[in-house]
Amino acid sequence: MEIVIRAPKNEVEWEQYYDLRYRILRQPWNQPRGSERNEGDATGVHFALFENDKIAAIARLDLNSENIGQVRFMAVESTIQRKGFGKQVMLAIESYCKAQNSSGIILHAREIAIPFYESLNYQLVKKSHLLFNEIQHFLMNKKI
Ligand SMILES: CC(C)(COP(=O)(O)OP(=O)(O)OC[C@H]1O[C@@H](n2cnc3c(N)ncnc32)[C@H](O)[C@@H]1OP(=O)(O)O)[C@@H](O)C(=O)NCCC(=O)NCCS
Repeated sequence: MEIVIRAPKNEVEWEQYYDLRYRILRQPWNQPRGSERNEGDATGVHFALFENDKIAAIARLDLNSENIGQVRFMAVESTIQRKGFGKQVMLAIESYCKAQNSSGIILHAREIAIPFYESLNYQLVKKSHLLFNEIQHFLMNKKI
């Protein structure tokens, strides 16, 4: 099994990337296609984990003006969750942030994902927003 983590680099890969984001993070809440994208996609750093040329896990990193990283749109293909792919993407993001001399990473975790981020030593800061009137998010952070 060959694993590579990098940004998508052609149209077919970008389609796969946004399709995974849509299917995992938007479709289950009946959101329309296109709702998985936003203006930050133009400036964010995109991470895709390829397992034998197929995208298995994704996330976007936004670096703010103080060089704090924010992880967004973290998602793993539904049939292969809990196999360590999400963790590998988060570790790649941390390495990238360290190389950029970032001092920390923040994220807004869905309630269901809190144990995942805790396993990577993120700390719960506070309850944040409610998405689609039902998905409670929690601000978490980690110094790096
Ligand atoms: C949450 C998500 C990103 C985690 O990625 P993953 O590849 O499934 O998780 P990993 O296998 O890398 O998990 C690493 C560690 O996190 C912890 N963990 C992950 N999911 C967990 C869960 N549901 N309950 C408890 N611990 C969990 C475990 O310690 C795990 O290690 P272990 O499997 O050896 O015990 C993924 O399951 C996913 O995409 N879920 C649906 C979308 C989503 O909620 N995205 C997050 C938005 S904030």
